[in-house]
Amino acid sequence: MKIVIGYESYHGNTRTMAYAFERGAREAGAETLIRNIRQIKLFDVKSADVVVVATPTYHQKPPSNVRYFMKNYDSYDFSDKTAFVLGSYEELGDAIDQTIDFFHSRGATVLIPPIRVKGKPTKADLESCQQKGSEIATK
Ligand SMILES: Cc1cc2nc3c(=O)[nH]c(=O)nc-3n(C[C@H](O)[C@H](O)[C@H](O)COP(=O)(O)O)c2cc1C
Repeated sequence: MKIVIGYESYHGNTRTMAYAFERGAREAGAETLIRNIRQIKLFDVKSADVVVVATPTYHQKPPSNVRYFMKNYDSYDFSDKTAFVLGSYEELGDAIDQTIDFFHSRGATVLIPPIRVKGKPTKADLESCQQKGSEIATK
């Protein structure tokens, strides 16, 4: 099982969540790759069983590097992939929903619910991220 995790984070909240998720998945036996989403290559996505996007919300949308990913994969067929989304937010966390919609409309099996954390993740939040990584890796 290969899990590719692309994150964006300006203040570290979403990045911390992404790394906790990755640790859980890796410790449960998955092959993992975690990078800033801008550094995720087509090869990485092609070879992944699960694609995870970790995105904060800025101005009711994902930050530019997440939008760049969506633009790059606009016509990519994700129908053989599972997708999962997580992120930190303060108001509505629209970016999480928009990223889920992106994956849905391109055929991915999106695991619901996403992990949404308001503000800075607590220890318990990070444990949930780690647990979810482990759960997905052993599915
Ligand atoms: C300029 C600015 C705009 C923001 N806009 C939104 C928003 O539209 N919706 C929302 O839910 N949170 C919004 N937030 C809150 C961030 O998503 C939140 O602080 C998050 O924890 C940042 O995650 P990061 O540390 O991974 O970048 C905004 C924060 C800032 C500083």
